[in-house]
Amino acid sequence: MSPLLEITGLNVARSGFEIVNNVDLVAPAGEVTVLLGSNGAGKTTLLEAVSGVIPCAAGSVSLEGEYITSMRRGKRARRGLAHVEQGRTVFPELTTEENLLVAAPKTALGPAFDLFPSLEKRRHVKSGLLSGGEQQMLVLARAIVGSPKMLLLDEISLGLAPVIIQDLMPVVRRLADSGIGVLLVEQFAELALDIGDSALVLSRGKVVFNGSCEKLRSSPELLQGAYLAGADPEDEPAQTGGS
Ligand SMILES: Nc1ncnc2c1ncn2[C@@H]1O[C@H](COP(=O)(O)OP(=O)(O)OP(=O)(O)O)[C@@H](O)[C@H]1O
Ligand SMILES: [Mg+2]
Repeated sequence: MSPLLEITGLNVARSGFEIVNNVDLVAPAGEVTVLLGSNGAGKTTLLEAVSGVIPCAAGSVSLEGEYITSMRRGKRARRGLAHVEQGRTVFPELTTEENLLVAAPKTALGPAFDLFPSLEKRRHVKSGLLSGGEQQMLVLARAIVGSPKMLLLDEISLGLAPVIIQDLMPVVRRLADSGIGVLLVEQFAELALDIGDSALVLSRGKVVFNGSCEKLRSSPELLQGAYLAGADPEDEPAQTGGS
């Protein structure tokens, strides 16, 4: 059987610079695949190329064995690919329920409220009045009301207190346990590795580690080494012909 999401030899360029370089990645259904790397390593760029926000320069992306590399973004979404982009927030003037109705009809909201009972209690409250953690849960809930097969999560913990992130990560685990494939970009590496199955580390657009979360967790020097390599300011990405 084909893996849920498979990325092969992916190159992505921005403004003529090669940002993602020859990346191979497999993200199975029911698993959390953690994607780590320093600031500017290319994590967001990779996710954007997978969901179709930006084009790929070379390589392929497939979902359940179907090539989606050149498919428009909306079509990829209809195939079951959901992307929570970095910095995504709620519509503060809308209630919790109205935020979800932007993405799906009322009849489809049940599973999201089952997963996030605290949101159901606050379904008629303006989402701008929810706590930071609840707002991020609402962002997650909005991504899953369309019943995606594969979920790309880009730093959903941004701006949240560590104690709240500790509550959010098990929710991501539960999503995967319900059968969804999750590709998780997370700055709090240890919290992500605690709930993840496999992990990749990107450094300057290249995969420098691909293995189990357990292995990465038990080799701090590997993790730290990758981060330091990615942070080298002397090292500019290679320029390419395209844009
Ligand atoms: N629109 C753009 N045009 C040109 N270069 C860009 C653009 N967006 C990002 N970049 C560059 O691409 C590289 C990778 O950025 P990207 O946002 O993918 O990294 P990241 O790993 O998600 O970082 P962070 O952890 O800060 O979110 C960086 O060098 C960045 O400066
Ligand atoms: Mg990013």
